[in-house]
Amino acid sequence: MLAYRHAFHAGNHADVLKHLVLTRVLRYMAEKDKPFTLIDTHAGAGGYSVEGRYAQKKGEYGEGIARLYDRKDLPAPLADYIDLVRAFNPDGQLRQYPGSPAIANLLLRETDRLRAYELHSTDHRILASYLDTRAQTQVRDTDGFAAIKAELPSPTRRAALLMDPSYEIKSDYGKVLAALREALERAPDTVVMVWYPQLQLLESTQLAARLKGSADAAAKKGWLHVRLTVAAPADRPDGKGLGMLGSGMFIANPPFTLHDELAECLPLLVEKLGQYDGANYVLEQKAA
Ligand SMILES: C[S@@+](CC[C@H](N)C(=O)[O-])C[C@H]1O[C@@H](n2cnc3c(N)ncnc32)[C@H](O)[C@@H]1O
Repeated sequence: MLAYRHAFHAGNHADVLKHLVLTRVLRYMAEKDKPFTLIDTHAGAGGYSVEGRYAQKKGEYGEGIARLYDRKDLPAPLADYIDLVRAFNPDGQLRQYPGSPAIANLLLRETDRLRAYELHSTDHRILASYLDTRAQTQVRDTDGFAAIKAELPSPTRRAALLMDPSYEIKSDYGKVLAALREALERAPDTVVMVWYPQLQLLESTQLAARLKGSADAAAKKGWLHVRLTVAAPADRPDGKGLGMLGSGMFIANPPFTLHDELAECLPLLVEKLGQYDGANYVLEQKAA
């Protein structure tokens, strides 16, 4: 039984960072005529109402997408992502927020393949019905981590993988690391995107270094790591806190354009999404 429902968190600062990166990667991959495959191992329901009771309960989108949605002065990569969110809101008012498979549905071409995995039965049903008529698409209700073996190497050869678990179970940290290694072993040029929460928890603080070590050994085109910190660490004597301070994305085999695109957007994200004076970002990359 899975307790996590992304509907509570849709459109928060972590979704903004994740979906900005996803948008840039998919745009880049669609520049070449040759089709590619996107494997979304933890796909969620596909779309979320920010007016619904789930999103309203926590109001996280208010400190995320809502702070950017009406702005007209955004750097081009952010403006492109916001335009995609606008495409989900035909009357202009922010009512719906697209999840990763919905963004993929907009950006993938008819010849590109989409493989979406979602274990929660309700979210799986919603997603399967949403993508029902999309060509070249399969929506599965099986373990997304186990998908690596089934999906890679892909028949299209070109592939991107988004790994976006909830990390409510600590074993997810070890699983993303193992899945990154397995993906790069099976197809070393796969663009692997791993999202992670920035928490005051050893597993979280160590994850980026571990992912870098694995990508150093196996990624054909290096890696990029971006982290956006929006909230202050909890002031507890044990140095631990429960809340998410921010989040990060680790990308193996990133598009060569990604670093500069993110560098253009991150100062504004810190300014608009930061919840304290110390809000900051990290952007680092290593060529192969
Ligand atoms: C953070 S949410 C995904 C959000 C989505 N990627 C997006 O960007 O819109 C994580 C999802 O993974 C699902 N999930 C948890 N464990 C899973 C597993 N082993 N395989 C596939 N889905 C899983 C949860 O039910 C939840 O919907």
